[in-house]
Amino acid sequence: MSFDLVLFGGTGDLCWRKLMPALFQAFKHGTLPDGARIIGVGRDDLSDERYRAQIQARFSEVDLAKRPSPQEFERFSALLEFVSMDLSRPEHYAYLQGKLAQRQVDTVVMYLATAPTLFATIAEQLAAAGLNTPQTRVVLEKPLGHDLASNRAINSTVGQVFTEHQIYRIDHYLGKPSVQNLFALRFGNALFEPLWRREHIANIQITIAEELGVEKRGGFYETTGALRDMVQNHALQLLCAIAMEPPVNAHADAIRDEKLKVLRSLKPWAAAALTQDVIRGQYGAGNITGTPVLAYREELGVSPTSNTETFVALRAEISNWRWAGVPFYIRTGKRLAGRDARIVVNFRPTPHAIFNSQIGLANRLVINLQPKDGLELHLLAQGQDNRKNSHTLSPVQLDLDFDKRFGMERVGAYERLLLDVIEGRLNLFVRSDEQEEAWRWVEPILTHWQADTQGPRLYAAGTWGPSATSAMIARDGFCWSEEC
Ligand code: BG6
Repeated sequence: MSFDLVLFGGTGDLCWRKLMPALFQAFKHGTLPDGARIIGVGRDDLSDERYRAQIQARFSEVDLAKRPSPQEFERFSALLEFVSMDLSRPEHYAYLQGKLAQRQVDTVVMYLATAPTLFATIAEQLAAAGLNTPQTRVVLEKPLGHDLASNRAINSTVGQVFTEHQIYRIDHYLGKPSVQNLFALRFGNALFEPLWRREHIANIQITIAEELGVEKRGGFYETTGALRDMVQNHALQLLCAIAMEPPVNAHADAIRDEKLKVLRSLKPWAAAALTQDVIRGQYGAGNITGTPVLAYREELGVSPTSNTETFVALRAEISNWRWAGVPFYIRTGKRLAGRDARIVVNFRPTPHAIFNSQIGLANRLVINLQPKDGLELHLLAQGQDNRKNSHTLSPVQLDLDFDKRFGMERVGAYERLLLDVIEGRLNLFVRSDEQEEAWRWVEPILTHWQADTQGPRLYAAGTWGPSATSAMIARDGFCWSEEC
Protein backbone atom coordinates (compact mmCIF):
# COMPACT_ATOMS: atom_id res chain seq x y z
CA MET A 1 0.00 0.00 0.00
CA SER A 2 1.63 3.24 -1.11
CA PHE A 3 1.18 6.52 0.72
CA ASP A 4 2.39 10.09 0.98
CA LEU A 5 2.53 11.60 4.44
CA VAL A 6 2.66 15.39 4.47
CA LEU A 7 3.79 16.76 7.81
CA PHE A 8 2.73 20.37 8.34
CA GLY A 9 4.91 21.56 11.20
CA GLY A 10 7.68 19.42 9.74
CA THR A 11 10.40 21.40 11.51
CA GLY A 12 8.48 21.72 14.79
CA ASP A 13 9.01 20.22 18.19
CA LEU A 14 6.40 17.47 17.87
CA CYS A 15 7.89 16.35 14.59
CA TRP A 16 11.39 15.98 16.04
CA ARG A 17 10.39 14.53 19.38
CA LYS A 18 7.54 12.19 18.51
CA LEU A 19 6.59 11.83 14.86
CA MET A 20 9.95 11.15 13.18
CA PRO A 21 11.06 8.72 15.91
CA ALA A 22 7.71 6.92 15.60
CA LEU A 23 7.96 6.73 11.82
CA PHE A 24 11.51 5.45 12.11
CA GLN A 25 10.41 2.75 14.57
CA ALA A 26 7.64 1.63 12.21
CA PHE A 27 10.18 1.58 9.35
CA LYS A 28 12.60 -0.45 11.47
CA HIS A 29 9.91 -2.88 12.59
CA GLY A 30 8.92 -3.36 8.95
CA THR A 31 5.36 -2.21 9.64
CA LEU A 32 5.50 1.00 7.62
CA PRO A 33 3.87 0.02 4.33
CA ASP A 34 6.16 -0.04 1.30
CA GLY A 35 5.91 2.86 -1.08
CA ALA A 36 6.11 5.50 1.62
CA ARG A 37 7.09 9.11 1.07
CA ILE A 38 7.27 11.54 4.01
CA ILE A 39 7.18 15.22 3.09
CA GLY A 40 8.06 17.69 5.82
CA VAL A 41 6.52 21.13 5.40
CA GLY A 42 7.96 24.21 7.09
CA ARG A 43 8.71 27.86 6.53
CA ASP A 44 12.48 27.44 6.28
CA ASP A 45 14.08 27.21 2.88
CA LEU A 46 15.63 23.75 3.13
CA SER A 47 16.76 21.27 0.53
CA ASP A 48 15.79 17.63 1.06
CA GLU A 49 19.41 17.01 2.05
CA ARG A 50 19.44 19.77 4.69
CA TYR A 51 16.14 18.53 6.08
CA ARG A 52 17.45 14.99 6.37
CA ALA A 53 20.59 16.28 8.09
CA GLN A 54 18.47 18.26 10.58
CA ILE A 55 16.41 15.22 11.38
CA GLN A 56 19.47 13.06 11.81
CA ALA A 57 20.93 15.66 14.21
CA ARG A 58 17.72 15.71 16.25
CA PHE A 59 17.71 11.93 16.57
CA SER A 60 20.62 12.37 18.97
CA GLU A 61 18.03 13.66 21.49
CA VAL A 62 15.95 10.50 21.27
CA ASP A 63 16.34 7.55 23.71
CA LEU A 64 19.51 5.67 22.90
CA ALA A 65 17.64 2.43 22.24
CA LYS A 66 15.46 4.16 19.65
CA ARG A 67 18.20 5.99 17.74
CA PRO A 68 19.00 4.79 14.23
CA SER A 69 22.49 3.68 13.31
CA PRO A 70 24.01 5.72 10.42
CA GLN A 71 23.14 2.87 8.01
CA GLU A 72 19.57 2.65 9.28
CA PHE A 73 19.17 6.41 9.02
CA GLU A 74 20.45 6.40 5.46
CA ARG A 75 17.78 3.90 4.42
CA PHE A 76 15.04 5.73 6.35
CA SER A 77 16.05 9.15 5.06
CA ALA A 78 15.50 8.05 1.47
CA LEU A 79 11.77 8.43 2.28
CA LEU A 80 12.13 12.05 3.42
CA GLU A 81 11.58 15.18 1.37
CA PHE A 82 10.98 18.80 2.27
CA VAL A 83 8.68 21.50 0.93
CA SER A 84 9.04 25.09 2.06
CA MET A 85 5.63 26.76 2.40
CA ASP A 86 4.06 29.91 3.66
CA LEU A 87 0.77 28.41 4.79
CA SER A 88 -1.26 31.45 3.79
CA ARG A 89 -0.12 31.46 0.14
CA PRO A 90 -2.27 29.55 -2.37
CA GLU A 91 0.61 29.16 -4.86
CA HIS A 92 2.53 27.15 -2.28
CA TYR A 93 -0.35 24.68 -2.04
CA ALA A 94 -0.39 24.54 -5.82
CA TYR A 95 3.29 23.57 -5.67
CA LEU A 96 2.51 20.88 -3.10
CA GLN A 97 -0.30 19.63 -5.31
CA GLY A 98 2.18 19.35 -8.21
CA LYS A 99 4.60 17.41 -6.06
CA LEU A 100 1.93 14.99 -4.89
CA ALA A 101 0.70 14.52 -8.45
CA GLN A 102 4.15 13.19 -9.39
CA ARG A 103 3.07 9.74 -8.33
CA GLN A 104 -0.14 7.77 -7.83
CA VAL A 105 -0.61 6.55 -4.26
CA ASP A 106 -3.36 4.75 -2.38
CA THR A 107 -3.48 7.23 0.50
CA VAL A 108 -2.38 10.76 1.23
CA VAL A 109 -2.12 11.75 4.89
CA MET A 110 -2.07 15.45 5.77
CA TYR A 111 -0.75 15.66 9.34
CA LEU A 112 -1.45 19.06 10.89
CA ALA A 113 1.15 19.38 13.64
CA THR A 114 1.00 23.17 13.65
CA ALA A 115 -0.64 25.65 16.00
CA PRO A 116 -4.42 24.98 15.96
CA THR A 117 -5.03 28.56 14.81
CA LEU A 118 -3.72 27.44 11.42
CA PHE A 119 -5.94 24.36 11.02
CA ALA A 120 -8.84 26.16 9.34
CA THR A 121 -6.55 28.02 6.91
CA ILE A 122 -4.69 24.86 5.97
CA ALA A 123 -7.93 22.93 5.42
CA GLU A 124 -9.40 25.69 3.24
CA GLN A 125 -6.23 26.05 1.21
CA LEU A 126 -5.96 22.30 0.71
CA ALA A 127 -9.50 22.32 -0.67
CA ALA A 128 -8.78 25.30 -2.92
CA ALA A 129 -5.78 23.44 -4.35
CA GLY A 130 -7.89 20.31 -4.95
CA LEU A 131 -6.01 18.40 -2.26
CA ASN A 132 -9.11 17.11 -0.45
CA THR A 133 -9.42 14.00 -2.61
CA PRO A 134 -11.27 10.91 -1.33
CA GLN A 135 -7.86 9.23 -0.77
CA THR A 136 -6.85 11.96 1.65
CA ARG A 137 -6.90 11.68 5.43
CA VAL A 138 -6.24 14.60 7.71
CA VAL A 139 -4.73 14.30 11.18
CA LEU A 140 -5.39 17.05 13.72
CA GLU A 141 -3.09 17.35 16.69
CA LYS A 142 -4.30 18.59 20.03
CA PRO A 143 -5.05 21.15 21.37
CA LEU A 144 -7.98 21.47 19.01
CA GLY A 145 -9.05 24.96 19.93
CA HIS A 146 -8.96 26.94 23.11
CA ASP A 147 -12.56 26.59 24.19
CA LEU A 148 -15.84 25.20 22.89
CA ALA A 149 -16.39 28.00 20.34
CA SER A 150 -12.92 27.76 18.79
CA ASN A 151 -13.13 23.96 18.78
CA ARG A 152 -16.44 24.10 16.96
CA ALA A 153 -15.11 26.64 14.49
CA ILE A 154 -12.18 24.35 13.60
CA ASN A 155 -14.38 21.27 13.38
CA SER A 156 -16.84 23.11 11.20
CA THR A 157 -14.25 24.44 8.73
CA VAL A 158 -12.37 21.17 8.51
CA GLY A 159 -15.73 19.39 8.27
CA GLN A 160 -16.64 21.39 5.16
CA VAL A 161 -13.48 20.16 3.45
CA PHE A 162 -13.23 16.57 4.68
CA THR A 163 -15.89 14.08 5.74
CA GLU A 164 -15.82 12.91 9.37
CA HIS A 165 -14.35 9.53 8.40
CA GLN A 166 -11.38 11.32 6.80
CA ILE A 167 -10.59 13.24 10.00
CA TYR A 168 -8.26 11.69 12.59
CA ARG A 169 -8.19 13.71 15.82
CA ILE A 170 -5.22 12.50 17.80
CA ASP A 171 -5.18 11.91 21.52
CA HIS A 172 -1.93 10.02 21.95
CA TYR A 173 -3.10 8.53 25.25
CA LEU A 174 -5.48 6.32 23.27
CA GLY A 175 -2.49 4.88 21.43
CA LYS A 176 -0.66 3.81 24.58
CA PRO A 177 -0.49 0.01 24.94
CA SER A 178 -1.65 0.37 28.53
CA VAL A 179 -4.85 2.10 27.45
CA GLN A 180 -5.53 -0.61 24.88
CA ASN A 181 -5.06 -3.08 27.71
CA LEU A 182 -7.72 -1.27 29.66
CA PHE A 183 -10.17 -1.96 26.83
CA ALA A 184 -8.95 -5.57 26.76
CA LEU A 185 -9.37 -5.90 30.52
CA ARG A 186 -12.92 -4.59 30.45
CA PHE A 187 -14.26 -6.05 27.22
CA GLY A 188 -12.14 -9.16 26.70
CA ASN A 189 -12.73 -10.60 30.17
CA ALA A 190 -15.97 -11.39 31.94
CA LEU A 191 -14.45 -11.29 35.40
CA PHE A 192 -14.81 -7.64 36.33
CA GLU A 193 -17.89 -6.55 34.40
CA PRO A 194 -20.47 -7.69 37.03
CA LEU A 195 -18.56 -5.70 39.65
CA TRP A 196 -17.99 -2.65 37.46
CA ARG A 197 -20.74 -0.50 38.91
CA ARG A 198 -21.90 1.64 41.77
CA GLU A 199 -23.00 -1.29 43.94
CA HIS A 200 -19.40 -2.55 44.19
CA ILE A 201 -17.15 0.41 43.47
CA ALA A 202 -16.60 3.13 46.07
CA ASN A 203 -14.55 5.54 43.97
CA ILE A 204 -12.23 5.74 41.00
CA GLN A 205 -9.04 7.80 40.85
CA ILE A 206 -7.31 8.85 37.65
CA THR A 207 -3.83 10.28 38.07
CA ILE A 208 -1.52 11.56 35.36
CA ALA A 209 1.53 12.90 37.16
CA GLU A 210 4.63 14.23 35.44
CA GLU A 211 8.05 15.04 36.87
CA LEU A 212 8.84 17.30 33.95
CA GLY A 213 8.10 21.00 34.10
CA VAL A 214 7.06 23.03 31.09
CA GLU A 215 10.54 22.62 29.56
CA LYS A 216 10.92 24.92 26.55
CA ARG A 217 7.18 25.26 26.04
CA GLY A 218 6.59 28.10 28.53
CA GLY A 219 5.07 30.39 25.89
CA PHE A 220 2.61 27.75 24.72
CA TYR A 221 1.80 26.62 28.24
CA GLU A 222 1.06 30.13 29.50
CA THR A 223 -2.04 30.32 27.30
CA THR A 224 -2.95 26.65 27.75
CA GLY A 225 -2.60 25.38 31.33
CA ALA A 226 -3.19 21.89 32.68
CA LEU A 227 -6.96 21.86 32.24
CA ARG A 228 -6.76 22.42 28.48
CA ASP A 229 -3.49 20.53 28.03
CA MET A 230 -4.35 17.34 29.93
CA VAL A 231 -7.86 17.21 31.39
CA GLN A 232 -10.05 18.19 28.42
CA ASN A 233 -8.46 15.44 26.37
CA HIS A 234 -6.22 12.77 27.92
CA ALA A 235 -7.84 12.54 31.36
CA LEU A 236 -11.40 12.62 30.01
CA GLN A 237 -10.55 9.96 27.44
CA LEU A 238 -9.27 7.76 30.28
CA LEU A 239 -12.46 8.47 32.19
CA CYS A 240 -14.46 7.35 29.16
CA ALA A 241 -12.43 4.16 28.81
CA ILE A 242 -13.01 3.26 32.43
CA ALA A 243 -16.68 4.27 32.63
CA MET A 244 -18.19 3.51 29.21
CA GLU A 245 -20.69 0.74 28.57
CA PRO A 246 -19.43 -2.25 26.57
CA PRO A 247 -19.69 -1.26 22.89
CA VAL A 248 -21.66 -3.57 20.57
CA ASN A 249 -18.54 -4.21 18.49
CA ALA A 250 -15.03 -2.87 18.06
CA HIS A 251 -15.87 -0.51 15.21
CA ALA A 252 -14.85 3.09 15.60
CA ASP A 253 -18.33 4.53 15.89
CA ALA A 254 -19.56 1.87 18.30
CA ILE A 255 -16.71 2.79 20.64
CA ARG A 256 -17.09 6.51 20.12
CA ASP A 257 -20.86 6.40 20.68
CA GLU A 258 -20.27 4.87 24.11
CA LYS A 259 -17.57 7.38 25.03
CA LEU A 260 -19.85 10.20 23.98
CA LYS A 261 -22.57 8.92 26.31
CA VAL A 262 -20.17 9.09 29.25
CA LEU A 263 -19.22 12.67 28.43
CA ARG A 264 -22.87 13.61 28.10
CA SER A 265 -23.59 12.05 31.49
CA LEU A 266 -20.97 14.05 33.35
CA LYS A 267 -22.73 15.98 36.07
CA PRO A 268 -22.78 19.69 35.14
CA TRP A 269 -20.93 22.06 37.43
CA ALA A 270 -22.98 23.76 40.18
CA ALA A 271 -21.52 27.02 41.52
CA ALA A 272 -20.49 25.41 44.84
CA ALA A 273 -18.79 22.51 43.10
CA LEU A 274 -16.60 24.87 41.09
CA THR A 275 -15.03 26.14 44.29
CA GLN A 276 -15.04 22.91 46.34
CA ASP A 277 -14.48 20.20 43.78
CA VAL A 278 -11.89 21.75 41.50
CA ILE A 279 -8.41 22.65 42.67
CA ARG A 280 -5.87 24.44 40.58
CA GLY A 281 -2.23 24.62 41.49
CA GLN A 282 1.02 26.00 40.20
CA TYR A 283 4.47 24.64 41.03
CA GLY A 284 6.88 26.65 43.07
CA ALA A 285 10.59 25.88 43.33
CA GLY A 286 11.47 22.47 44.76
CA ASN A 287 13.38 19.27 44.16
CA ILE A 288 12.92 16.58 41.55
CA THR A 289 14.88 13.43 42.35
CA GLY A 290 17.28 15.47 44.46
CA THR A 291 17.88 18.22 41.89
CA PRO A 292 16.63 21.73 42.65
CA VAL A 293 14.23 23.05 40.01
CA LEU A 294 12.79 26.48 39.26
CA ALA A 295 9.32 27.70 40.07
CA TYR A 296 6.90 27.86 37.14
CA ARG A 297 6.97 31.66 37.25
CA GLU A 298 10.74 31.58 36.73
CA GLU A 299 10.58 29.37 33.63
CA LEU A 300 11.51 30.67 30.19
CA GLY A 301 8.57 32.36 28.45
CA VAL A 302 6.45 32.50 31.63
CA SER A 303 5.21 35.72 33.21
CA PRO A 304 6.54 36.31 36.77
CA THR A 305 2.94 37.00 37.82
CA SER A 306 1.40 34.12 35.86
CA ASN A 307 -1.81 32.54 37.11
CA THR A 308 -1.64 29.62 34.71
CA GLU A 309 -2.33 26.30 36.41
CA THR A 310 0.23 23.52 36.16
CA PHE A 311 -1.93 21.21 38.28
CA VAL A 312 -5.62 20.34 38.42
CA ALA A 313 -7.51 17.99 40.70
CA LEU A 314 -11.24 17.59 40.44
CA ARG A 315 -14.14 15.47 41.54
CA ALA A 316 -16.54 14.41 38.83
CA GLU A 317 -19.74 12.38 38.88
CA ILE A 318 -21.40 10.46 36.11
CA SER A 319 -25.17 10.68 36.25
CA ASN A 320 -26.32 7.34 34.93
CA TRP A 321 -27.55 4.04 36.38
CA ARG A 322 -24.13 2.44 36.47
CA TRP A 323 -22.26 5.23 38.20
CA ALA A 324 -24.66 7.54 40.07
CA GLY A 325 -23.05 8.63 43.34
CA VAL A 326 -19.58 7.21 42.62
CA PRO A 327 -16.93 9.96 42.74
CA PHE A 328 -14.35 9.99 39.95
CA TYR A 329 -11.29 11.93 41.03
CA ILE A 330 -9.01 13.27 38.32
CA ARG A 331 -5.61 14.68 39.09
CA THR A 332 -2.84 15.80 36.77
CA GLY A 333 0.14 18.09 37.07
CA LYS A 334 3.67 18.94 36.19
CA ARG A 335 6.64 18.75 38.57
CA LEU A 336 4.92 16.23 40.80
CA ALA A 337 6.47 13.56 42.99
CA GLY A 338 6.98 11.08 40.15
CA ARG A 339 6.13 10.20 36.58
CA ASP A 340 3.13 8.12 37.27
CA ALA A 341 -0.08 7.59 35.36
CA ARG A 342 -2.55 5.18 36.88
CA ILE A 343 -6.22 4.48 37.38
CA VAL A 344 -7.23 3.13 40.76
CA VAL A 345 -10.55 1.38 41.18
CA ASN A 346 -11.42 1.18 44.88
CA PHE A 347 -14.02 -1.47 45.59
CA ARG A 348 -16.43 -1.29 48.49
CA PRO A 349 -15.58 -3.27 51.61
CA THR A 350 -17.42 -6.53 52.31
CA PRO A 351 -20.97 -5.88 53.56
CA HIS A 352 -20.22 -7.65 56.83
CA ALA A 353 -16.85 -8.14 58.53
CA ILE A 354 -16.05 -11.40 60.28
CA PHE A 355 -12.37 -10.55 60.80
CA ASN A 356 -11.67 -7.52 62.99
CA SER A 357 -8.56 -6.75 61.00
CA GLN A 358 -10.47 -6.35 57.76
CA ILE A 359 -12.33 -3.28 58.94
CA GLY A 360 -11.46 -0.33 56.76
CA LEU A 361 -9.75 -2.54 54.15
CA ALA A 362 -11.11 -3.32 50.73
CA ASN A 363 -10.07 -4.60 47.33
CA ARG A 364 -8.40 -2.36 44.84
CA LEU A 365 -7.55 -2.73 41.19
CA VAL A 366 -4.71 -0.54 39.99
CA ILE A 367 -4.27 -0.05 36.27
CA ASN A 368 -0.73 1.25 35.83
CA LEU A 369 -0.39 3.20 32.61
CA GLN A 370 3.17 4.51 32.91
CA PRO A 371 6.04 4.26 33.48
CA LYS A 372 5.00 0.71 34.38
CA ASP A 373 2.33 -0.87 32.19
CA GLY A 374 0.46 -3.43 34.23
CA LEU A 375 -2.24 -4.41 36.66
CA GLU A 376 -2.24 -4.87 40.41
CA LEU A 377 -5.10 -6.57 42.17
CA HIS A 378 -5.05 -5.89 45.90
CA LEU A 379 -6.65 -8.65 47.95
CA LEU A 380 -6.80 -9.51 51.63
CA ALA A 381 -5.19 -12.73 52.80
CA GLN A 382 -4.43 -14.53 56.03
CA GLY A 383 -1.13 -13.09 57.24
CA GLN A 384 1.98 -15.18 57.81
CA ASP A 385 1.48 -15.59 61.52
CA ASN A 386 -1.29 -18.21 61.43
CA ARG A 387 0.09 -20.15 64.45
CA LYS A 388 -1.86 -17.86 66.70
CA ASN A 389 -4.94 -18.37 64.58
CA SER A 390 -5.24 -14.65 64.92
CA HIS A 391 -7.54 -14.13 61.98
CA THR A 392 -5.34 -11.26 60.98
CA LEU A 393 -5.79 -10.29 57.39
CA SER A 394 -3.09 -8.50 55.45
CA PRO A 395 -3.25 -6.79 52.09
CA VAL A 396 -1.49 -8.76 49.34
CA GLN A 397 -1.06 -8.00 45.70
CA LEU A 398 -1.35 -9.88 42.41
CA ASP A 399 0.96 -8.16 39.96
CA LEU A 400 0.90 -8.36 36.20
CA ASP A 401 3.67 -6.50 34.42
CA PHE A 402 2.81 -6.29 30.72
CA ASP A 403 6.27 -5.05 29.75
CA LYS A 404 7.82 -8.19 31.25
CA ARG A 405 5.06 -10.43 29.97
CA PHE A 406 5.10 -9.16 26.39
CA GLY A 407 8.63 -7.74 26.20
CA MET A 408 9.75 -4.14 26.06
CA GLU A 409 9.67 -3.89 22.26
CA ARG A 410 6.04 -2.85 22.35
CA VAL A 411 4.66 -0.41 19.84
CA GLY A 412 4.69 3.19 21.08
CA ALA A 413 1.60 5.43 20.98
CA TYR A 414 2.56 7.59 18.01
CA GLU A 415 3.82 4.63 16.02
CA ARG A 416 0.57 2.81 16.57
CA LEU A 417 -1.59 5.83 15.75
CA LEU A 418 0.37 6.78 12.64
CA LEU A 419 -0.02 3.26 11.29
CA ASP A 420 -3.73 3.40 12.10
CA VAL A 421 -4.10 6.59 10.05
CA ILE A 422 -2.15 5.17 7.13
CA GLU A 423 -4.23 2.00 7.20
CA GLY A 424 -7.54 3.78 7.82
CA ARG A 425 -8.49 2.63 11.34
CA LEU A 426 -10.41 5.28 13.27
CA ASN A 427 -11.04 3.38 16.54
CA LEU A 428 -8.43 5.20 18.55
CA PHE A 429 -9.26 8.71 17.32
CA VAL A 430 -11.68 11.20 18.76
CA ARG A 431 -14.89 12.20 17.00
CA SER A 432 -15.90 15.86 16.84
CA ASP A 433 -18.97 15.42 19.05
CA GLU A 434 -16.88 13.77 21.79
CA GLN A 435 -14.42 16.58 21.69
CA GLU A 436 -17.10 19.27 21.82
CA GLU A 437 -18.82 17.57 24.73
CA ALA A 438 -15.51 17.50 26.64
CA TRP A 439 -15.02 21.22 26.00
CA ARG A 440 -18.59 21.92 27.07
CA TRP A 441 -17.94 20.21 30.39
CA VAL A 442 -14.63 21.94 31.19
CA GLU A 443 -15.66 25.39 30.02
CA PRO A 444 -17.48 26.48 33.22
CA ILE A 445 -14.24 25.80 35.09
CA LEU A 446 -12.33 28.10 32.74
CA THR A 447 -14.98 30.80 33.11
CA HIS A 448 -14.95 30.45 36.88
CA TRP A 449 -11.15 30.79 37.01
CA GLN A 450 -11.22 33.89 34.84
CA ALA A 451 -13.37 35.64 37.42
CA ASP A 452 -11.57 34.18 40.43
CA THR A 453 -9.00 36.59 41.86
CA GLN A 454 -7.41 33.97 44.14
CA GLY A 455 -5.32 32.34 41.44
CA PRO A 456 -3.77 28.86 41.66
CA ARG A 457 -2.49 27.39 44.93
CA LEU A 458 1.27 27.03 45.05
CA TYR A 459 2.84 23.62 45.59
CA ALA A 460 6.48 22.75 45.93
CA ALA A 461 7.93 20.93 42.92
CA GLY A 462 8.42 17.25 43.74
CA THR A 463 5.26 16.89 45.84
CA TRP A 464 1.76 15.62 45.06
CA GLY A 465 0.31 19.10 44.54
CA PRO A 466 -1.57 21.48 46.86
CA SER A 467 -2.66 20.01 50.19
CA ALA A 468 -6.24 21.03 49.39
CA THR A 469 -6.27 18.04 47.02
CA SER A 470 -6.19 15.65 49.97
CA ALA A 471 -8.78 17.68 51.82
CA MET A 472 -11.12 17.47 48.81
CA ILE A 473 -11.07 13.68 48.70
CA ALA A 474 -11.15 13.39 52.52
CA ARG A 475 -14.53 15.17 52.52
CA ASP A 476 -15.97 12.02 50.94
CA GLY A 477 -14.17 9.84 53.49
CA PHE A 478 -11.55 8.64 50.97
CA CYS A 479 -7.87 9.26 50.32
CA TRP A 480 -5.54 9.20 47.33
CA SER A 481 -4.09 5.76 46.65
CA GLU A 482 -0.55 6.72 47.70
CA GLU A 483 -1.90 7.96 51.02
CA CYS A 484 -3.80 4.86 52.10
C1 BG6 B 1 0.88 16.21 25.90
C2 BG6 B 1 0.92 17.49 26.69
O1 BG6 B 1 -0.34 16.09 25.24
O2 BG6 B 1 1.05 15.12 26.81
C3 BG6 B 1 2.22 17.62 27.46
O3 BG6 B 1 0.80 18.59 25.78
C4 BG6 B 1 2.43 16.40 28.33
O4 BG6 B 1 2.24 18.79 28.27
C5 BG6 B 1 2.28 15.13 27.50
O5 BG6 B 1 3.74 16.47 28.87
C6 BG6 B 1 2.30 13.90 28.38
O6 BG6 B 1 2.37 12.77 27.57
P1 BG6 B 1 3.09 11.45 28.09
O7 BG6 B 1 2.84 10.47 26.98
O8 BG6 B 1 4.53 11.80 28.27
O9 BG6 B 1 2.42 11.10 29.36
